[in-house]
Amino acid sequence: MGAKKERKMELNPEAMPRHIAIIMDGNGRWAKKRGLSRSMGHREGSRVLKIIVEECYNLGIRYLTVFAFSCENWSRPQEEVDQLFRLMMEYLKNSEKELKGKPVRIRVIGDKSGLPEELVSEIRRVEQNTAHIDGLDLIIAINYGGRQDILNACRTLLDDYKNDRIGESGITMDALAQRLWTAGIPDPDLLIRTSGEIRFSNFLLWQCAYSELYFTDTLWPDFRKKHLHDAIAHYQRRERRFGGL
Ligand code: FPP
Repeated sequence: MGAKKERKMELNPEAMPRHIAIIMDGNGRWAKKRGLSRSMGHREGSRVLKIIVEECYNLGIRYLTVFAFSCENWSRPQEEVDQLFRLMMEYLKNSEKELKGKPVRIRVIGDKSGLPEELVSEIRRVEQNTAHIDGLDLIIAINYGGRQDILNACRTLLDDYKNDRIGESGITMDALAQRLWTAGIPDPDLLIRTSGEIRFSNFLLWQCAYSELYFTDTLWPDFRKKHLHDAIAHYQRRERRFGGL
């Protein structure tokens, strides 16, 4: 039996995380190590995302959320920002063909205002085309920030309160969660961050309150199925108590 197969069999199919979130970090360093441009790192990162989406589907994961562009990423050189948006366009345009009939519903979270118009309309097209699909939900965070998400939800809550859509007793954690960009999506069970950085970087701050955290030194473009299996195996060894005993 090959090592790959053995590793896969270690995973308990009954205890798969329902929702995995990933901070895909290290594209720039991966490229630099090879004397390539940062753009090449992002391109490779986009290729790896396809492998991981497919594997999540194969493993029966229900939700996968990936951090593709943060509200803070606008401060990168314009050329890099443009290339990231181009890669997202390409990814979305080819997604249905490349998923080869695999049932993947695509949804984008984040502040769409400020994104290039053609990217916004491509997002709309893919979201509409895949809305009926029941399989893996791929949630791509673009122009996303956890604090911005919470602030935006608070503003909506305030607006609903002022306009008598909810009363004072309606201001609850559930009510706030229902106004986040992730409304309707269960909180991540497992958060993975690649490239050795050990921080949230403003990703899903509210939603990851009880997530298991998994940090690996592997740079995102080097991340493969076996690394995903390692992260899930780590998750399956943990005992989640949600503050109880
Ligand atoms: C962080 O690595 C990565 C990003 C800011 C972008 C992630 C984007 C992709 C993986 C590809 C495009 C996305 C889609 C959805 C097709 P970094 O560049 O900050 O790495 P560094 O810390 O080594 O510089």
